[in-house]
Amino acid sequence: MAEALRVGIAGLGTVGASVARVIASKGVELTRQCGRDIVVTAVSARDRARDRGVDLSGAAWFADPVELAAKADIDVFVELIGGDEGPSRASVKAALEAGRHVVTANKALLAKHGVSLAEIAERKGVLLNYEAAVAGGIPVIKTMREALAGNTVSRVFGILNGTCNYILTRMEKEGISFDACLQDAQRLGYAEADPTFDIEGHDTAHKLSILTSLAFGTKIAADDIYLEGISNITQADIRAAAELGYRIKLLGVAQRTDSGIEQRVHPTMVPTASVIAQVHGVTNAVAIETDILGELLLSGPGAGGNATASAVVGDIADIAKSRPGFQHGPVFGRPAKELKPYKQAKMRSHEGGYFIRLTVHDRVGVFAAVAKRMADNQISLESIVQRAAEPNGEAIKTVILVTHETTEAAVRKAVDGIMKDGHLTDKPQVIRIERAD
Ligand SMILES: NC(=O)c1ccc[n+]([C@@H]2O[C@H](COP(=O)([O-])OP(=O)(O)OC[C@H]3O[C@@H](n4cnc5c(N)ncnc54)[C@H](OP(=O)(O)O)[C@@H]3O)[C@@H](O)[C@H]2O)c1
Repeated sequence: MAEALRVGIAGLGTVGASVARVIASKGVELTRQCGRDIVVTAVSARDRARDRGVDLSGAAWFADPVELAAKADIDVFVELIGGDEGPSRASVKAALEAGRHVVTANKALLAKHGVSLAEIAERKGVLLNYEAAVAGGIPVIKTMREALAGNTVSRVFGILNGTCNYILTRMEKEGISFDACLQDAQRLGYAEADPTFDIEGHDTAHKLSILTSLAFGTKIAADDIYLEGISNITQADIRAAAELGYRIKLLGVAQRTDSGIEQRVHPTMVPTASVIAQVHGVTNAVAIETDILGELLLSGPGAGGNATASAVVGDIADIAKSRPGFQHGPVFGRPAKELKPYKQAKMRSHEGGYFIRLTVHDRVGVFAAVAKRMADNQISLESIVQRAAEPNGEAIKTVILVTHETTEAAVRKAVDGIMKDGHLTDKPQVIRIERAD
C-alpha cells in the first residue's frame, strides 16, 4: 500500500474539528477508497487547551499556521481559519510555495486572491481544492470542473446563503416580518450576531464570483457584482408574489449576455412551480444551464460542520488518490494564466421581467399616470392591479405591476418618472423576475 497521506489542519472550529473527527472515525472506509491511509499529523488553532471532541494527541501542535504550512511533516495543508487576509492567506500561500497541496473552505480568500493562489498552485504542480467554499456540502465545484467537461455554460444561478433562505422561507410560511425572522435566526444560530455580511448579499457574491470563473473562464471579479440584499423585503412583497404565482429568493446569478457577463445578487421572484422555488430553509441549491446537458439542479446542505467537512474530506481523498503527473487539471477549470479578464455587462442593460409595487395617493388619474410612464418607456405590462393598501386610515392604494421582458434602464426611467409625478406615498419596490423551470 502507498504511504499514508499526511494532513495538517489549521483551524479547529466548526468545520476543522468536524474534519478531524470524520478522518478519525471513517479511517477504514477512507483507506479502502483511497488505497492509502489518511492521517492528521499536525494541527493549529488559537486555544491549545480547548476540547475538539477528537483525540489529536498524535498530531504536532503549531501555534502559528504559517509555520505549520511551511515546515510541518505534511503532504496536504487544510486551511479552515477563515478571512481573506492574515493567517489564512499567509498560510495557504506558504503551503503552496512549499509545494504542498491545499484544501480550503474559504470563499472570502478565493474571491479575493483565488487567481493568484491558483497561479502558484499550477506553477508548483500541486492541487488547490475548495469544494466546501461554495454551497458547503453540495459537490458543485467538482460538477463544474470535471463532470461538465465539453459543456458550454450559459447561466449559473443559485440559493447560496442559508441564512437568507431561512429568513425568506419563514417570512412566507409564518407571515412574520423580516426583523422578527432575523432575530429568531440569530437566537437559533442560523444568523451571525452581525448578520450584514449574509443578509446584504456579500457572502452570496463571494460564492457567485467563484462559480462565474468556473462557468465562463474569467478572472474572479467579486467586486464587480451587482448587489442587493433582502432587508427591504416586506410581507406585502411576499404576499403579492404568492398571489402572482411567484416566490421570493435571494439568488446569485451569472449569465452570458451579448454585452458581457452579468453577475448579480438580489432578491428575485421565481415561479412557485419551479424546482428552485421548492428549496426551503437553510438548504442551498445551484442551477447550471449548459448546451449539452440542459439544466441541472443540485441542492443540499450549504453549511454546518458535518456537511462542510464532507466536502473538505472529499477534497482530501481526491489528493490521496492523485498520483504525481496525474492530477485533476487546473484550479478554475482553465490554467490560471489563461483566465480572461472579466467583461462586465452593465446592470442597466439587464433584460427580464419586473415586479413593481407602488404605494400611491388615492386620487383620480394616478393609475393612468403610472400606466403612461410605463408606455412612454416601451414597457409592456403582463398585469397591473390596483387595490386598497394596508388599512391605516389613509387614502392610499397599492398598485402592483408585472412587466413583460424589458430592460433595467427602462424600468429605472419609468420608476424615476413616477416618483417625479409626486403620486407615491412610500418608496417604490422593484423586484426582478428570474426565468426558472
Ligand atoms: N461553518 C460553516 O458552516 C462553513 C461552511 C462553509 C464554509 N465555511 C468556511 O470554513 C472556514 C472555517 O469556518 P468555521 O465556521 O469552522 O470557523 P470557526 O468555527 O470560527 O473556526 C475558526 C478556527 O480558526 C482558528 N483560528 C483563528 N485564528 C487563528 C490563528 N491566527 N491561528 C490559528 N488558528 C486560528 C480558531 O481557533 P480557536 O478554536 O482556538 O479559537 C478556530 O479553531 C471559513 O473560511 C468559513 O467561511 C464554513
